[in-house]
Amino acid sequence: MRQVGRCRAHTNIALIKYWGKRNDELFLPMNSSLSLTLDAFYTDTEVVLDSDFTSDTFFLNDVKQDKKETEKITKFLNLFRNEVNMETKACVKSYNHVPTAAGLASSASAFSALAGAMNQASGLNLDPKTLSTYARRGSGSATRSIYGGFVEWYMGEDDLSETSHAIPVDDASWDIGMIVIAVNTGRKKLSSRVGMKQTIATSPFYSSWVETATSDLTKMKDAIKQKDFITLGEITESNGMKMHATMLGAFPPISYWEPDSVKAIQTVKEIRGMGIPCYVTMDAGPNVKVLCKASDMTKIEELLLKEFKREQIIPTTVGEGIKLLSDSEWNY
Ligand code: ADP
Ligand code: DP6
Ligand code: CO
Repeated sequence: MRQVGRCRAHTNIALIKYWGKRNDELFLPMNSSLSLTLDAFYTDTEVVLDSDFTSDTFFLNDVKQDKKETEKITKFLNLFRNEVNMETKACVKSYNHVPTAAGLASSASAFSALAGAMNQASGLNLDPKTLSTYARRGSGSATRSIYGGFVEWYMGEDDLSETSHAIPVDDASWDIGMIVIAVNTGRKKLSSRVGMKQTIATSPFYSSWVETATSDLTKMKDAIKQKDFITLGEITESNGMKMHATMLGAFPPISYWEPDSVKAIQTVKEIRGMGIPCYVTMDAGPNVKVLCKASDMTKIEELLLKEFKREQIIPTTVGEGIKLLSDSEWNY
């Protein structure tokens, strides 16, 4: 028996952030979040199930991964295998077209692509909404990468795994763009998973964070409905800063920022002062993302080039949801 699945998933950047779980095992979040899927960054993943394999193996960018990384994949694939009563081992090959573990959401595209590929290989054929609840169990942010455009991750109810899923909110086809200012694309020292757990455990600001993220989300969905870019941007910038403030309140304090992150934020503020609407957000890493109008991207890039190198400025438009890849689309 040999079954194959191949899938591409794009990364997403949260405009209303997820920073903490109410249930670690099930990846149930403390609050609902909302993101923008990006076209420029993605992961392609192949899952081969073969009854001749004696163990799971996992290759990332053609490099065989160690026991710890492979065990994470095994645990994830078991969610599907248990559902179809299958014990067949897998060979997983994944290619990140995004820096890994740098705060550019590689875990989001990774587990969304793996979910899509395993959904096909296992023959489970879950619908996208249910598939998002599976992607979630690999990495919370992966819930949202199942869909394109603006996507909400609804936090769900109580400890019911199946109620916490992604919802496509809007296709973002109204002149939305994002520019990544790559400050440092090396691996972070503190994973998102550990960082958020420490924040919940020790930051006195945590309960206020959850309250404010919840009301920000309501306001943001309204702004999206009205296609009100300024309000969308203002809430994005404010929400991101509040997440980082909450982390700074942890003990020991958590900060993913570097000096050039601050320089990037100041530069964006200056550009905004010139009358071009653009707003920053940052995740668990030093890189800065600029939410802007797609039609302003070239102008903003030129202004950023006065402070940063060409290779540090990566413009992107809105990305689509997951898609299965045919033989001819698998170019590895
Ligand atoms: P990021 O900011 O990139 O999302 P995280 O700390 O959330 O950083 O997640 C990084 C981790 O996600 C990696 O250490 C690895 O375990 C996992 N990961 C990244 N890319 C892949 C991939 N293509 N397939 C499987 N797991 C991946
Ligand atoms: C700051 O989804 O990477 O990017 O669920 O533990 O895998 P795990 O964490 P992850 O956390 C993402 C945190 C964030 C905000 C966001 O994407 O919502
Ligand atoms: Co991540």
